[in-house]
Amino acid sequence: MSVVIRDARPEDCDRIAVLLTQLGYPADGREVADRLGYWLEDRFSRVLVADDAGSVGGCLSVHAIPYLERTGRWARIESLVVDQVVRAAGVGRLLVTAAEDTARNWGCLGMEVTSSRSRVDAHAFYQRLGYADVCTRSGRFFKDLS
Ligand SMILES: CC(C)(COP(=O)(O)OP(=O)(O)OC[C@H]1O[C@@H](n2cnc3c(N)ncnc32)[C@H](O)[C@@H]1OP(=O)(O)O)[C@@H](O)C(=O)NCCC(=O)NCCS
Repeated sequence: MSVVIRDARPEDCDRIAVLLTQLGYPADGREVADRLGYWLEDRFSRVLVADDAGSVGGCLSVHAIPYLERTGRWARIESLVVDQVVRAAGVGRLLVTAAEDTARNWGCLGMEVTSSRSRVDAHAFYQRLGYADVCTRSGRFFKDLS
């Protein structure tokens, strides 16, 4: 396996839709194409894919938010999924490493990811990659605006 991490392109939409469906967010290629439209035009957002000789085995979206309380930005992994047939082969690590490199280039001071408590395996993965569970430090509040 020789995986290259690169930016998502319109022709990846069907594969990304399959991956998002595996993640638990059913989508089709047309919906993903619509979303890529606003992701790709945002200077501080990137959608990355893991490309193994033309086969997309994983994807990650990352976005940076500016701080006002300090100088700089912080980044957030908005989604991450590796195809279930290629898990545990290092693809997730490659995607997160590329996202971290991107965030450093954007001037980010740190990276955040939120993940449902039910995703026990993903939490072990993030901890293995150096992410600390800080959720007892602050609350997380959400309001549905739809
Ligand atoms: C979580 C996920 C992205 C990890 O990707 P992956 O390609 O399977 O993980 P990798 O092979 O790159 O693993 C990287 C490291 O994490 C470790 N790791 C991965 N899963 C682990 C687990 N369940 N328990 C302990 N360690 C784990 C690996 O052993 C590896 O360590 P090493 O590099 O030191 O050997 C992938 O399993 C996935 O898509 N899961 C379903 C969707 C999901 O939960 N996404 C996250 C939503 S927030």
